[in-house]
Amino acid sequence: MRAPRFLECPDYDAPSPAVEATAGLAATPANVPSKFLYDDLGSKLFDAITDLPEYYPTRTEAAIFSSHSGAIAQEIKAAVGRDVQLVDLGAGNCKKAERLLAAFAVRRYVAVDIAAAYLRGTLERLQRRHPQLDVVGVGLDFSSRLVLPAEVAGTSSLLFFPGSSIGNFAPEQALHLLRQAHAATYGGALLIGVDLVKPIGLIEAAYDDPLGVTAAFNLNLLRHLNRLLGADFDVREWRHVAFFDVAASRIEMHLEARRALTVHWPSGERHFDAGERIHTENSYKWSHDGFGALLRAAGFRDLRTWTDPREWFAVVLARA
Ligand code: AVI
Repeated sequence: MRAPRFLECPDYDAPSPAVEATAGLAATPANVPSKFLYDDLGSKLFDAITDLPEYYPTRTEAAIFSSHSGAIAQEIKAAVGRDVQLVDLGAGNCKKAERLLAAFAVRRYVAVDIAAAYLRGTLERLQRRHPQLDVVGVGLDFSSRLVLPAEVAGTSSLLFFPGSSIGNFAPEQALHLLRQAHAATYGGALLIGVDLVKPIGLIEAAYDDPLGVTAAFNLNLLRHLNRLLGADFDVREWRHVAFFDVAASRIEMHLEARRALTVHWPSGERHFDAGERIHTENSYKWSHDGFGALLRAAGFRDLRTWTDPREWFAVVLARA
């Protein structure tokens, strides 16, 4: 049996996580990039969110993949051929990509994720189920720069970016990321999932579930900051807030101080008034046309789109 290989890809030009997080905490209004939601526990809480009845994106995307599996596999083969390298952006628990492994011949599976420790366990289990597959884990924060390490770059690839993670980028950042994704396909293709605009009530319920799993996911960011910065956030002093901004077409997640308080860390502190918020995530919802235009502006062509009957979510295959 082969063993997965792991490549770390530090971006030496990017600010350190601690510098980035403290800059956001010092800003007015305060904000912390959403990547800080994904420490080990945060990744597990996100997995739990995807099982919630209110969180429709994962289920809807999976239904699209299973209803159109034949057509999707055929189009992928036509676009990138056989024995392809599959690059999974934000691989997480790798479940979605594993379904694709069965659908067409993959030579090498490259799982890219910021949560490198979480990826390690997942890939070891995946390798046991696929003993012949060349499995590579890449610890990379592609939200700032998507450049694959030399060991896996330079070969025609299918980039897989499911789950509407593209929605966590503002439109101009999404364009930048998709342009880099276009270059990283080396003439291959992109298979991407995107959440579509729909009635607000459905979206808000998905991001503020009655069990409080999304609240725990959001609040856990404060524990992550405590470890990262040596800060003294008390999660009981904060509450989860999520609402849809129609003009921006995005759901916003915030953490709101329940009372006036001051948070300290070794190199600084920040006072928050009662009701003051830390903005932790945006999740943009796209129209078909708007998303198609974005992909074309990034250099992609020959778009093939599959949706569910209610048109809540879309899966798009785009050639480079
Ligand atoms: C990872 N990303 C696509 C999720 C989303 O729906 O924006 C993250 C998430 N935030 C709250 N719930 C899920």
